[in-house]
Amino acid sequence: MSFTALRLFQENGQRVSRYVDQSLDDLDAGDVVIESHYAAVNYKDARAVSGVGNVIKRFPCVPGIEVSGTVLSSTSDRFTKGQAVTVQGGQLFGIRHDGAFSQCVRVPAEWVAPIPEGFDARDVVALGIGAYTSAVAVEELERRGVKPQDGPIAVTGATGGCSSFAIDMLAGLGYTVVASTGKTTAHDYLRRIGASEVVGRDGLCSGDKPLEEQRWAGAIDAVGGAPLDQVLRSMKKRGVVCSFGNAAGEKVETSIYPFILRSVTLAGINANHPVATRGTAWTRMAKGGDLRPRHLDSICFDIAFRDLKTYCDQVISSGIQGRAVVNF
Ligand SMILES: NC(=O)c1ccc[n+]([C@@H]2O[C@H](COP(=O)([O-])OP(=O)(O)OC[C@H]3O[C@@H](n4cnc5c(N)ncnc54)[C@H](OP(=O)(O)O)[C@@H]3O)[C@@H](O)[C@H]2O)c1
Repeated sequence: MSFTALRLFQENGQRVSRYVDQSLDDLDAGDVVIESHYAAVNYKDARAVSGVGNVIKRFPCVPGIEVSGTVLSSTSDRFTKGQAVTVQGGQLFGIRHDGAFSQCVRVPAEWVAPIPEGFDARDVVALGIGAYTSAVAVEELERRGVKPQDGPIAVTGATGGCSSFAIDMLAGLGYTVVASTGKTTAHDYLRRIGASEVVGRDGLCSGDKPLEEQRWAGAIDAVGGAPLDQVLRSMKKRGVVCSFGNAAGEKVETSIYPFILRSVTLAGINANHPVATRGTAWTRMAKGGDLRPRHLDSICFDIAFRDLKTYCDQVISSGIQGRAVVNF
């Protein structure tokens, strides 16, 4: 059996990805062989394919951390030929073990989950880790008592996959959402998916003082760096900031004053959980659930497998709006 994979190589100190013809013997070992139908393209996947940063920890390796498809064969009695399944996240898949960007995937059985009720083969990865991360952040705001009537919620990196879902979910729950974006052409898109107001990347804060005008009851931050500092300095008393990303930088320089004078909480979000352990943040996104994004079709779009490499380079060089799904 032969199939195509997009594999990342390390050659002469450079990282380069190439489409290669493969047989099963070329893939890492595992109990379950899956014919890929859909794979998501997260920011870290785009970095991996484009050879940026240190996402991939072993070379050569197939990137991609989320796939859905049907079982071609299984040596585990948990799965049968033809079953609809998904593999998402963990510390190895698409990082140290050949991942999703391949027409055929082979993994240990414990990484595989049946497609849960309320999801189908496409939406399970279209939503995937991106929407799940936002849902975990939204639940964190709820758990810490931030209510729609407390004031607006700022969302940074607004046109990104995760943040687009956050905007949609928050608006659906009745929150007023202010979206921060670097893309002047994306304002209509952001209003369509639920933003009440759109500001630029430096529009989150009114000045340079350690504490500025109190604007946000809550925030969902996908970018870190300077925008996260701006958000912290503009939080209302007892406001909650959920932070999960680093697109603007992995370091944050800020002061202690938002924390000790306004009782602001900075809550870290790590949503790298296997599908089977995801709990309510995941099940609330199933068809009919209250966190089901209402604008899934505006946020997610399909790309062909052959266009994936070019698409990833574009994400890194100029950014993209929404979340791409590879349709094999
Ligand atoms: N902690 C977790 O469990 C977890 C899970 C999933 C993702 N993440 C992280 O969350 C972040 C977002 O992921 P994603 O898949 O949604 O990525 P994405 O689709 O590429 O979105 C990132 C967005 O950040 C903004 N951005 C990019 N470069 C920037 C810069 N230099 N300064 C300020 N803003 C910038 C852009 O939005 P605008 O152009 O609209 O400003 C971009 O669309 C990534 O850092 C990812 O690694 C973390």
